[in-house]
Amino acid sequence: MSTLITNIGELVTNAAPGDDPGHGPGSFAAQAGAALVIDQGRVAWTGPAAQAPAADDAVDCAGGAVLPGFVDSHAHLVFAGERSAEFAARMAGTPYQAGGIRSTVAATRAAPDQVLRANLARLNREMLAQGTTTAECKSGYGLTVADEARAVALAAEVTPEVTFLGAHVVPPEYDGDRAGYLDLVCGPMLSACAPQARWVDVFCERGAFDADEASAVLAAGRAAGLLPRVHANQLGPGPGVQVAVAAGAASADHCTYLGDADVDALAASGTGSSGTGFSGTVATLLPGVEFSTRQPYPDARRLLEAGVTVALATDCNPGSCFTSSMPLCVALAVREMRLTTQEAVWAATAGGARALRRTDVGHLGVGARADLMLLDGPSHTYLAYRPGVPLVRAVWQAGQLIA
Ligand code: NIG
Ligand code: FE
Repeated sequence: MSTLITNIGELVTNAAPGDDPGHGPGSFAAQAGAALVIDQGRVAWTGPAAQAPAADDAVDCAGGAVLPGFVDSHAHLVFAGERSAEFAARMAGTPYQAGGIRSTVAATRAAPDQVLRANLARLNREMLAQGTTTAECKSGYGLTVADEARAVALAAEVTPEVTFLGAHVVPPEYDGDRAGYLDLVCGPMLSACAPQARWVDVFCERGAFDADEASAVLAAGRAAGLLPRVHANQLGPGPGVQVAVAAGAASADHCTYLGDADVDALAASGTGSSGTGFSGTVATLLPGVEFSTRQPYPDARRLLEAGVTVALATDCNPGSCFTSSMPLCVALAVREMRLTTQEAVWAATAGGARALRRTDVGHLGVGARADLMLLDGPSHTYLAYRPGVPLVRAVWQAGQLIA
């Protein structure tokens, strides 16, 4: 069963005609007056609408833009409860603190499986409706062996991009025994979670885990077959980015407070990887967090000018940023982080794919997974030009029309 998607005002492919699709997304690239054919869940053809081959079925986009589905490479979706009072207090002047995580841990531990599953499904539906066709999902609100194992198992029901984040904070029952908690994380908790996870993450920050602790968690995760990624430099300058690069992490996330040495380390991590589809350690920026915590936005231009690969993601979680909207993140990154509209859309699609080391998503080159969205607007620019407006008219995931 093949489908012709035609009369596309602007088709963003992130793939040039000569690109090897096996290498994943290339640079930002778009075609005007285009069409695309989906066959067996993959992109089978793209080109001028007038030259499109016949297909079993056809969809007329009436001049709307078609983009690769968003790749949201950072989200915490397995939790119970909410923290709107904490948000309101922040807007009244109380700063964000990592300690708020503990209140979600208590609510999550107390929740039955079906409550967590229903919340996860609701957030997943929200994401899909806003164009996200690949989402990463972290554990980190269980922090016991059983609760973390439950979180990764639930996450694995909705995505292959499951991240073990037992090293989110030290839970209250280990107050005064950090070493004991790290032994638990790197021992029985990791063993219980690794079979269902692809990634290991650590919150490397004052109030969470220091550089040595974070490096130990990542090394243990690697030994258990997981690939590292890091919450880095979120609340202040710190060692997170250096820890991430030294561990060969796919991504350093947040990057709100970066020194020149951090930018240099991220840039150097990608040297020699061009053309392979991999990008060293990607800097994953989370503009919804700066929005929701009133922290300063990092300067994405500074990273791009240094040669760093930049991704955008939501960080959807009940504490520091409760948005599931990649369109909002694109708009914020354009307005507040000095990305062009093309750079922001690339970072939210191809950049996310790089941050997850995926070559099959984040682009619409022939052979890519047919993950795409149709916008109610003629170009990708509308995502930032019409902020807050529900512009996503249709979403296909692996060739299936979802929303
Ligand atoms: O990415 N930084 C650590 N974890 C989350 C926040 C979690 C929370 O506040 O519940 C984050 O911002
Ligand atoms: Fe996070």
